[in-house]
Amino acid sequence: MHILVIGGAGYIGSHVVKELLQHGVQVTVFDDMSTGQNENLFPQAAFIKGDILDVSALEAVMNGVDGVVHLAAKKAVGESMEHPEKYAVNNITGTLNILNVMAKCGVKNFVFSSSAAVYGMPQYVPVDEKHPTEPINFYGFTKLEIERFLPWYGNLKGINWIALRYFNAVGYDADGDVKGLEKNPQNLLPIVMETAVGIRQGMKIFGNDYDTEDGTCVRDYIHVSDLASAHWLALDYLSKGGSSQSLNLGTGKGISVWEMVKATERLSGQKVNYDFSERRAGDPSLLVAASDTANAVLGWKPVHSDLDNIIRTTWAMYQK
Ligand code: UFG
Repeated sequence: MHILVIGGAGYIGSHVVKELLQHGVQVTVFDDMSTGQNENLFPQAAFIKGDILDVSALEAVMNGVDGVVHLAAKKAVGESMEHPEKYAVNNITGTLNILNVMAKCGVKNFVFSSSAAVYGMPQYVPVDEKHPTEPINFYGFTKLEIERFLPWYGNLKGINWIALRYFNAVGYDADGDVKGLEKNPQNLLPIVMETAVGIRQGMKIFGNDYDTEDGTCVRDYIHVSDLASAHWLALDYLSKGGSSQSLNLGTGKGISVWEMVKATERLSGQKVNYDFSERRAGDPSLLVAASDTANAVLGWKPVHSDLDNIIRTTWAMYQK
């Protein structure tokens, strides 16, 4: 099997490449290196630098591949509300370019990085795939729009697809084979880590008056190595004629912001300076996934996502 991994030099993409290589897959990475990093490239995978907005560059890499994993997206929620045009062009136009080139070149299998952001404010938890999709930020809107195109490309162009709706991606490869630390991280755990190592003087916990056990927000943190295994299983499933669908990827267990901070202090031995501040707009108090469908359809089960492993693998990277 020869798989094109678009965005394969990024944080999640590089973990996916490692997983595919371990299963004997021939991998070509296509990445514009805007957030991808050279240290994340594996010598066993071919690498082509290119942009998904460049249709001829996509055509040049598409011939002869059996499937595409597409992770090349802009993903900062706040930025998507300030610069929706960037997200429209990159996440929607760029993905449509990929689908059109796949159709032209007869490539049938597509695994798409989607997000829990497609759901918007949870109306019930755990959130399953039948939960209404009403994104509250433009980033989530771009992911949902692509999910709405996929059945059409399935019916009209014969493209088989799986959209993987990631919950909160965290952690690093336990073997240290992924070497690049995510640049300009915007998410909780990297911010906690930067505070623990002293890159930041302190951090804010956004709200301690939520209706949760300790008053801070609860999320479903899923280790990137568990996300990576789902991509391999999805490709394998599609290659055996599996049916196209969207699948949640989470653990079903919630971890609070407070627990994340305290576990980092415990496992790193470093103090994390924090203040409680106002709630951040648009934050639900509790967001956890029901991932039973991914388990039933793909046989997928998270095995790397316990809190200690998440913190240990991330701390190991920040110590370097
Ligand atoms: N938080 C803090 N302080 C910080 C940063 C985050 O307290 O400095 C809190 C947030 O308020 C939230 C939790 O930590 O309660 C997690 O925040 P993140 O920004 O790491 O993640 P989100 O849950 O907001 O968003 C994530 C992904 C998005 C995705 C969304 C869908 O980053 O891409 O889940 O649920 F869209």
